[in-house]
Amino acid sequence: MNVSFIGLGIMGSRMAQNLLNNGISLTVFNRTTAAMHPLVAAGAKKADSAQSCVADADIVFTMLSTPEAVEEVALGELGFVQKMKPNALWVDCSTVDPTFTRQIGARATEAGIRFLEAPVAGSLPQAAGAQLVFFCGGEATDVESVTRLMEHMGRKVVHLGAVGMGASLKVLVNSMLAQSMLVFAETVNLGEHLGLSKDFLLEFLPSLPVIAPFVQAKVENLKTGEYPTNFPLSWMQKDLYLVCKAAYEQDTPLILANATKEAYMAAKQSGLGKEDFSAIYAYLNK
Ligand SMILES: NC(=O)c1ccc[n+]([C@@H]2O[C@H](COP(=O)([O-])OP(=O)(O)OC[C@H]3O[C@@H](n4cnc5c(N)ncnc54)[C@H](OP(=O)(O)O)[C@@H]3O)[C@@H](O)[C@H]2O)c1
Repeated sequence: MNVSFIGLGIMGSRMAQNLLNNGISLTVFNRTTAAMHPLVAAGAKKADSAQSCVADADIVFTMLSTPEAVEEVALGELGFVQKMKPNALWVDCSTVDPTFTRQIGARATEAGIRFLEAPVAGSLPQAAGAQLVFFCGGEATDVESVTRLMEHMGRKVVHLGAVGMGASLKVLVNSMLAQSMLVFAETVNLGEHLGLSKDFLLEFLPSLPVIAPFVQAKVENLKTGEYPTNFPLSWMQKDLYLVCKAAYEQDTPLILANATKEAYMAAKQSGLGKEDFSAIYAYLNK
């Protein structure tokens, strides 16, 4: 079986490496070519374009930043979908919104290929350690045909139903993640302004049940003022936009996520977009 991987950023590079570690025959492509070098050194074949990357593939994984990037790389003028073998399977792991993933799924079907959405829960450490959770939407037979590959990259594969269900769950999860981070950041910031010591707050607050457990992994960033990027703040702002778009389309209120989106947008505009999303604290605290 020939497998291709397009989009070798923070997540994709590590997912592709785990496929290689498990002996999968892999062809890779990334817009910025330097990202391909470590994988080629580890045994991957390097493609010169997204189109040439998929030509022999039975399964194509994509891990791209935004819906716009997925649209361009897969379905644009030089998009790879038109070059895929008939009935080959495209698995999109990028975080996009439910309506978008349904639209590209329909276009993939029209083009004569199979489509599965499989956004992931987990960040850089989970991608590196093959501990991701895949939120699949699509045909059960397609999920079955890639489960073994996903198990090389993750610890769990969840089939949620038709295309769109994976993106639905993913935007909900990231909405909670973004809000929990903001709640912690503004609580610590106000605590400091009220005269409580930052070190005390960072030690004590995570021990309380009111804090989301993942926050513990971000405490060191707030302590040191360094925000090494596991999940770029820009992509968190993008995901908040996507969940708000989904709520708008469903004609249902989403009050806190909309407010949170604007906080992350302001932080992004202040120059923190490439930092880890925990840098929302740096924005509040400056
Ligand atoms: N980081 C996390 O913790 C995390 C966790 C779960 C899900 N996600 C999601 O996973 C996806 C990738 O995230 P990431 O953190 O790996 O981001 P990243 O490091 O910024 O990687 C983004 C990838 O998309 C490519 N790309 C963007 N625009 C493109 C375009 N117009 N044409 C071709 N390639 C393009 C980039 O290529 P270049 O290298 O050339 O820029 C890069 O390979 C996003 O949807 C994100 O929301 C991230």
